[in-house]
Amino acid sequence: MRILVIGSGGREHTIGWALHNDPAVSKVFFGPGNGGTSLIGINLPNVNPMDFNSIVDAVESNEIGMVVCGPEDPLAAGIYDYLMKKGIASIGPSQKGAQLEGSKIFAKEFLFNMNIPTADYREFSDPQAAYDYINDINWEPVIKCDGLAAGKGVLLPESKDDARQVVKEILVDGKFKGAGRKIIIEKRISGFETTLLSFVDGETILPMLFSQDYKRAHENNEGLNTGGMGCLCPSPRIDNELREQIITEIVEPTSKGLKEYSIPYKGILYFGLMITDKGPQVLEFNVRMGDPETQVILPLLKTGLSVPLNAIKDGKLNKTKLEWHDGAAVGVVLASDGYPGSYKKGVQIDMLKRWDEPEENFIVFHAGTKREGEHLVTSGGRLVCMTALGENLRECRDMIYSRINEMNLEGLFYRSDIAAEYV
Ligand code: GLY
Repeated sequence: MRILVIGSGGREHTIGWALHNDPAVSKVFFGPGNGGTSLIGINLPNVNPMDFNSIVDAVESNEIGMVVCGPEDPLAAGIYDYLMKKGIASIGPSQKGAQLEGSKIFAKEFLFNMNIPTADYREFSDPQAAYDYINDINWEPVIKCDGLAAGKGVLLPESKDDARQVVKEILVDGKFKGAGRKIIIEKRISGFETTLLSFVDGETILPMLFSQDYKRAHENNEGLNTGGMGCLCPSPRIDNELREQIITEIVEPTSKGLKEYSIPYKGILYFGLMITDKGPQVLEFNVRMGDPETQVILPLLKTGLSVPLNAIKDGKLNKTKLEWHDGAAVGVVLASDGYPGSYKKGVQIDMLKRWDEPEENFIVFHAGTKREGEHLVTSGGRLVCMTALGENLRECRDMIYSRINEMNLEGLFYRSDIAAEYV
């Protein structure tokens, strides 16, 4: 089977890497791909993830049998429905299902209607009503844009003045354009965060392993929120009892909800969870794999990735059993200095070419990189995720940081504390 992976980040490199290592897959294509994906498949630079005709053209001219969409924007814009109408097998929720990520209000209503634990909230489009609500509440709020805002639409104000300013920027000044036409103001909950990715075929939700990502830019969870600076898997904080509680209180009612809402869903569902002292609660749904969660989860999947993907297509996840490698995986992201603010592009990073051929148990997944002639150069903020597999988190950390310490990383930065609290 020939598979096209849509996107150009580390998540897509990892999905493609897992498919490349799967004997049932003959060739992997990337649309458009990056400086790492060209080492394991064929980059199709003419594919624009938001131009569905360009995807159909690529499928037809390369005899592709299945399309796997990495990022959320094409899913929210209806890529699954479009490709299905053209008779092209595609992994992803329908546009209706993609609202679980594309509209925070839709997701909250779904959660409340299905009695799935989540924080209290109210929705607003009128700024004055939001200011009045902020005056009345006696808890710390989280303010979220209803729509997709490139990962920047969740704000954690530090005071009521700050919260009013956030509301003004979104609802009055239009900082996030259409994504901020409506907002929700949600009660901030505390505990520890974990992510559960799952395969979904519309009937069955098949969970993967629990992981934990590190969203802040700097050590000790300081600095701005990023797309993710590192990740570990499996989460040492999830024991069997907690796993079963999450399955019963969150995963099963979600599966029931997809049917009650008549949502066609043949893709990936990401449960962003907060484990509070009152039990697990849903912080957010995403309708795709996480980044960098994917970079530590899929390398631990022993089963060929085409197995669950075909089972999704054929509605056979209930008969699918996933096998996982023992041990652990850790991923540390190298980013351009300045990220998630402004940063330089075109910086030469040839030192990373040393891992163009992965070592056993050590893989460099590319994101914001491209090849210019002989050189590897930066083209984005998050550049690569260095993923190590080992018997435990300590072994993985040692492997990654010893390699990092051997390199000259001028112009780049990374967090040195990924998984540190567990070793
Ligand atoms: N790592 C968070 C996300 O993929 O949304």
